[in-house]
Amino acid sequence: MTHKRTLVTCALPYANGPVHIGHLAGAYIPGDIYVRYLRMRGEDVVFICGSDEHGVPITIKARSRGVTPQDIVDQYHQVMKNAFTGLGINFDIYSRTTSRVHDRNASEFFRKLYDDDKFITKETEQYYDEEAKTFLADRYIVGTCPKCGNPHAYGDQCEKCGSTLSPEELIDPKSALSGSAPKKVKTKHWYLPLDQYEPWLRDWILEQHKEWKTNVYGQCKSWLDGGLQPRAVSRDLDWGVPVPVDGAEGKVLYVWFDAPIGYISNTQELLPQSWEKWWKDPETRLVHFIGKDNIVFHCIVFPSMLKAYGDYILPENVPANEFLNLEGDKISTSRNWAVRVHEYEEQFPGQEDVLRYVLTANAPETKDNDFTWKDFQQRNNSELVAVFGNFVNRAVVLTHKYFGGVVPENRKPEPIDAETLAAVIPCREALERFIETFHFREALKEAMNIARIGNKYISDMEPWKVAKTDPDRTASILYTCLQICADLAIAFEPFTPFSAERLRGILRVGIDAGTDHRAGEGEPTVNFYRPDEGKALHTVPSGSSVPGAEGTLVLDWSMLGASELLPSGHVLGESVLLFQKIEDAVVDAQIARLQAIKEKREAEEAARAAEEAAKKIEPQKPEVTFDQFGAMDIRTATVLAAERVPKTDKLLKLTIDTGLDTRTIVSGIAEYYRPEDMVGKQICILANLAPRVIRGIESRGMILMAKQGDGKMRFLTPQEAVVNGAQVN
Ligand code: MF3
Ligand code: ZN
Repeated sequence: MTHKRTLVTCALPYANGPVHIGHLAGAYIPGDIYVRYLRMRGEDVVFICGSDEHGVPITIKARSRGVTPQDIVDQYHQVMKNAFTGLGINFDIYSRTTSRVHDRNASEFFRKLYDDDKFITKETEQYYDEEAKTFLADRYIVGTCPKCGNPHAYGDQCEKCGSTLSPEELIDPKSALSGSAPKKVKTKHWYLPLDQYEPWLRDWILEQHKEWKTNVYGQCKSWLDGGLQPRAVSRDLDWGVPVPVDGAEGKVLYVWFDAPIGYISNTQELLPQSWEKWWKDPETRLVHFIGKDNIVFHCIVFPSMLKAYGDYILPENVPANEFLNLEGDKISTSRNWAVRVHEYEEQFPGQEDVLRYVLTANAPETKDNDFTWKDFQQRNNSELVAVFGNFVNRAVVLTHKYFGGVVPENRKPEPIDAETLAAVIPCREALERFIETFHFREALKEAMNIARIGNKYISDMEPWKVAKTDPDRTASILYTCLQICADLAIAFEPFTPFSAERLRGILRVGIDAGTDHRAGEGEPTVNFYRPDEGKALHTVPSGSSVPGAEGTLVLDWSMLGASELLPSGHVLGESVLLFQKIEDAVVDAQIARLQAIKEKREAEEAARAAEEAAKKIEPQKPEVTFDQFGAMDIRTATVLAAERVPKTDKLLKLTIDTGLDTRTIVSGIAEYYRPEDMVGKQICILANLAPRVIRGIESRGMILMAKQGDGKMRFLTPQEAVVNGAQVN
C-alpha cells in the first residue's frame, strides 16, 4: 500500500508513577527506533505521546497522600517527560489528557457518538458509600478474597493471589473511604455495544491483518472468539472528562474511553490546522506502539470507537510487546521492584545508550523476557565495548598514528577489502526488513553484525603489523575500516543515537536524520547533526542552506553500505571512547539494592502472615457438664524457682507454691519464657491433675496457658495479686 505519511503513537503512560524499564522496552524504545529510522529514510512522520492523567488509581494515590489528583499528575507528568527526553525519545509532542484541547476533543467525540445513537444505556446496581456520599469504583471496595482468604483484597483484584475479582465476590466488602458496608444503588451508564462491531472486527483483524505480530493477532483472536460484550464508557467518579449530556452529573468518561482520544487531541494541539490529514487521510498510516496489556483497547475498543465516529483512519499495525521482568520477578512499582528511568539517568549519566541497547537486544517482542544486571553488564562489555567500541577505537587511533588523522588513500587494495565492504549490504537489507516488520531485536543484531564485520576484518588484517613493512597496504586497510566506521555512524543512529552522534564527532561528519514536527505548524525541522563539540544537533528550517554545513560531510541512510563514505583526505576528529566498561562493583550494587528490597518485602510478608495466623482460634470443644467442670481443681500459685530441664529445648522445671504445698511442675514453655523471668510470677494451675513423670521428674499439675494460632503460649496471671491457693471457677 502506498502512503504519504506515518503517524506513530506510543501508549500514553499513566501519570501516577515514574516510567520504568518495562515501559521503555514495551513501547517507547521500539517506537523511537521506528520513527528515527523512517525519518532517516525521508518519510514524513509525526510522533505522538503524552501522559494519561485520568482514572481511579490516580485518585487513590492522591487520597493516600492527602493531595489533589491534579497535584499527582502535575508531578509525574514532568518526571516522565524528562525521563523520555533524557533517553533520546524525541516525541513531536508530549502533552497530557488534562489539557484543555483534550477536554474539549474527548467531550466532542462522546457527544457525536451520543448524537448519532451509537451508545446503548444500561442501568446497573453499583456499590455506593452512604457516609462518603459517593459511588465506589471497584478499587475502592476492600474485603476478603474468596480464593485465598487475603483480608485486604480489592474489588477488582486480589494482589496476593493475583485473581481478577468483582466487588460482588468479596467476602464482607467495605468501602475504602469510610469503612462502612457499601450499599447497592442503581446508576445509569453509556455503553459502546462492541458486540455489534464483532463481525466487522473479525474481518478487519482476522482476515485483513494476518501480518500483525503473532502475539497481537492471537490475543485479538481469543477476544473475538470469546464473544464481545457492550463496554461501559462512563463512570461515577469526580476525576475525568465530564459526560457532556444532561442528567450525567457526577459522571465522567471512562479513562479508557478518553485516553486513546488523547492521541488525536495531542495531534490537534501540535498541528491545530493540519491535524486532520494525519487522522483522516487514507494515505496516512497509523501505528500504535504499546505493551501487551493494552492490546484489546488498541485493536478492538479504540478502532470500534473510530469506526463508530466515521471519517477516521484505523491503525495499520499495533506492534505490541510482551512484558519485561526484572531479575526473574514481575516489575511492580508499588512493590518497589523496578528500575526507574529517571533514576537510571542519574546513576548512569552518559550511558543512556547502554540501556537502549540492552532493552532492544533483549526486548520482549514475542514472549515475556527478563532484564538482569549481569546481562546488562555482559552486553555492554562484550558487545558494545569489545566489538563496536573496540573496532572504532582501533581504526581511528591507528589512523591518527600512521596518517595524522587523515583518511588515507586506498593505495593498495586487495579483494578482501571490497568483499568486506560489500558484506555490509546484506546487513543493511536485513536491518531494513526487520525494522519495517517491527523485529527490532533482529534489526539491532544486523547493525551489530556490521561492527562484527569490521572488528573481524581489522583483527585479521593486523594493520599494526603490516605498518612495519607496507605503508601502502596499511593505508588501504585503514581506509576500508573507516568506511565501516561511517556505516556504523548511520546504522546505529536509530538504536543508540548518543553514541552514533559521538562517533560522527570522531569522524567529523554530519548526518541527515530527516525532518520532524516539533515546530508544530511551522516549517518541519530538518535534523541535521553536525560534529561540533558540545553542540552536535542543529535544527534548521527545511529548504534553507544549512548554516555551517558548507564543507561538512553529511551522511544519510542511502549511503549505508556504499563503497566510499569518507573520501581520502577527509580529516578526522579526536578519538574518544564510545563506550565504557561497566565494572562488577557497579552491577553488584544494583543487585544488592534489589536483593535488599526483596528481603524486606519477604520479611514484611512473613510478619503479616504470622499476625494473621496469630488471630486464628480453635473451634469450641464439645459440651461438658457442671460436674465435669467442678472436678477440675484450678488455683492460683506462685513460681518460686525455675530451671531448664537439661537436654531439652522446651521444658522448664518449676517449683511452685500452691498455697497447699510446694511442688514441682514440668511445663513446655521454655520457648516462650526464660527461667529467670518466671520466678516470682503468679500463675494459675490445674492442681489435681494425675502426676506424670517427665524426663525423670515427677510433675504434679499443669500450668494454665493461653495458646493462640501461631502456637505462642502465655501464662495467666490474676488481674490483682491474691493469696496462693485461691480457687478459680
Ligand atoms: N495509560 C495506559 C497504560 O499505561 C495506556 C493508555 S494508552 C491510550 O496502560 F491509548 F489510552 F492512550
Ligand atoms: Zn486472593
